[in-house]
Amino acid sequence: MDFKDKVVLITGASGGIGACCALHFAKLSAKLALVGRNEEKLKEVIDQCENISGDKPLKIIADISVEDDNNRIVTETINFFGKIDVLVNNAGMVLMAGLMDDITNYDRISATNIRGTYLLTQHAIPHLIETKGNIVIVSSILSTVPLPALMPYCMTKAALDMFTKCVALEMAPKGVRVNSVNPGPVATNLFIAAGVSDDLNKGLYDNMKESMPLRKIATGEDIANMVVFLASDSASCITGSFHVMDCGLHLGDPVLRA
Ligand SMILES: NC(=O)c1ccc[n+]([C@@H]2O[C@H](COP(=O)([O-])OP(=O)(O)OC[C@H]3O[C@@H](n4cnc5c(N)ncnc54)[C@H](OP(=O)(O)O)[C@@H]3O)[C@@H](O)[C@H]2O)c1
Repeated sequence: MDFKDKVVLITGASGGIGACCALHFAKLSAKLALVGRNEEKLKEVIDQCENISGDKPLKIIADISVEDDNNRIVTETINFFGKIDVLVNNAGMVLMAGLMDDITNYDRISATNIRGTYLLTQHAIPHLIETKGNIVIVSSILSTVPLPALMPYCMTKAALDMFTKCVALEMAPKGVRVNSVNPGPVATNLFIAAGVSDDLNKGLYDNMKESMPLRKIATGEDIANMVVFLASDSASCITGSFHVMDCGLHLGDPVLRA
């Protein structure tokens, strides 16, 4: 598998799963356009990618919840590389909120997880049609497993799954594939960005490991493997599909079921 001469645009590349995707694509010689808001963190990932592939990725500081930034992300990528082969819609956020919490939680999270992804995809799609490229969306197992304490988050991921299916069907005749990866827990800064302390975050993920049927959780690299596979020609017959990587979380606890 090799992405030589392929242009891969990744959002949320400044950390976590997006950074792992960037490093994996760099190993496969992709030309990278990397998007994040935190310039220092994004630069670190860019330097690591350059060390791996010898090619310096394009750095795009942008917030996908800001309407104009989505247009600019695509324009800067096209101005620099002339095309887009793969769009990885990975940027996302979580908020601890349920039904009784303020509705602005829903507005904030939708602006990034749904509206930002929707707008960026709209801007990128003419270029993906030209290259007969593909899109990989980083959704979540919480698109189908309800967690009331994260209700707006679960709702945004469910919306993304339907977005994946509709866009896949609309774009199939044009040769553009669209798929999602639906991770279970992955130890990243997702909850830290939502205000959880480092210690609590570590404790949360350690506890989750113990409650997974496989008694472990996936790493960012595990998720990146799946993203890269879906973006590759090896997945040329796969579109509109969700790819769950959750160490069995969706099955429930085997001890309780036994
Ligand atoms: N970690 C998990 O347990 C888990 C499980 C299932 C699904 N996911 C999904 O995986 C994706 C990546 O999350 P992660 O776990 O890697 O978390 P993370 O470490 O917090 O990384 C999130 C990335 O998204 C970027 N981002 C967030 N909001 C953005 C915005 N409005 N505009 C541009 N970039 C934005 C962040 O950029 P800056 O840091 O530069 O602001 C960061 O690079 C998310 O869609 C998340 O929902 C995560």
